[in-house]
Amino acid sequence: MKGNVIVGQSGGPTAVINSSLAGVYRAAIDRGAKKVYGMRYGIQGLLDEQYIDLSKYIKSDLDVEILKRTPSSFLGTCRFKLPDIHEGGEIYERIFEILEKLDIECFIYIGGNDSMDTIKKLSDYALISGKPQKFMGVPKTIDNDLAVTDHTPGFGSAAKYIATSTKEIIRDGLGFSYKKKMITVIEIMGRNAGWLTGASALSRGEDCDGPDLIYLPELPFDTEKFMSRLKKLLEKKDVITVAVSEGIRTKDGTYVSELGSSVDYVDAFGHKQLSGTASYLASLISQEIGCKSRAVEFSTLQRSAAHIASRVDVDEAFVVGGEAVKAAEGGDSGKMVVINRYSNDPYQCSFDIYDVHRIANDERLVPREWISKDGTDVTDEFIDYVRPLIQGDSPSVMVGGIPRHLFIPVKTKREKAEKGE
Ligand code: F6P
Repeated sequence: MKGNVIVGQSGGPTAVINSSLAGVYRAAIDRGAKKVYGMRYGIQGLLDEQYIDLSKYIKSDLDVEILKRTPSSFLGTCRFKLPDIHEGGEIYERIFEILEKLDIECFIYIGGNDSMDTIKKLSDYALISGKPQKFMGVPKTIDNDLAVTDHTPGFGSAAKYIATSTKEIIRDGLGFSYKKKMITVIEIMGRNAGWLTGASALSRGEDCDGPDLIYLPELPFDTEKFMSRLKKLLEKKDVITVAVSEGIRTKDGTYVSELGSSVDYVDAFGHKQLSGTASYLASLISQEIGCKSRAVEFSTLQRSAAHIASRVDVDEAFVVGGEAVKAAEGGDSGKMVVINRYSNDPYQCSFDIYDVHRIANDERLVPREWISKDGTDVTDEFIDYVRPLIQGDSPSVMVGGIPRHLFIPVKTKREKAEKGE
């Protein structure tokens, strides 16, 4: 590799997003990159010339291993939409000026469908203006909603956390089942895709019945039917657990989260912050059924639970990072690394690259045939698809009984002022 590499992270983090960062770093160094820069807060930070030399923070093999097990975006993230390439000339000139100054050969962006929009636009701009830099995407999202790839790094670990925690919540509830009725509603992320919510079904086994009802956002949610199903279930059992996606919507397209006191925030890509679905439904249950009800929102826990990350996920996240560098060095641009699966048992997959234009801004949803007929569960095919992705453990490096993380020290305003920054 003749030039340097710059890597950024964008969108919601995952438990293994830094394993991809470690993979990019390792591959770039192994391929002879003189410097590997990290964008602080993605493309938004880069525009303000916020970047670091990663070798100052990753100093040993142990640091690489700790980085692989550190949740959140090590470099910082953003949800920033680049303007259309024909309308945002100045922004693009600015970005390429910075890339030229840093002698960047490969620009790697770790992210989901919105982040692939950035790769698409930058690679298109480079092509039409004859710029030599190569732009590659590394898939990442707990939502598992990227097109073309079999699955996305980050999903397996979040699925493992969701299945495990759902099982523990169900067990907790069963302890109270003596002459007492209780309904727990668990809210799971994933926006308009139900992959994560469906993963709650993996809690099912000899020792656990799993959730009694599972509601994915792929199908319209009917509150009346939901209530009558609960009432029927309560005739048979006292403790009920329901898994709902944060993105379930009524027939007219209204998010259930908006029916309660939801948060009123919309990001640069027009995505509403979805939160409050479980608490809305739990209070409705108390009002209409009159039994004890509880809302559990996994919220950011499900994407930061690196202590229970899947080994398969950590390893694949690392590999896709390296593959992106390899492809960019080989001259590819405007593409994303994808995972192809050959078999579930034994689990076998390979890595490839694919045109990002087909992936950016698209959403891959759970197919209807993987959802039960009555729309309140997932099928065995769904379980068979997810099961291999939650396998194996990746134990954290423990210090004082708590996982150790790699981090960039945050300077206070005062420290910055003292250094004249
Ligand atoms: O896209 C990943 C994701 O975790 C979604 O599942 C969720 O809706 C969203 O990010 C939440 O993002 P934020 O933390 O910015 O509110």
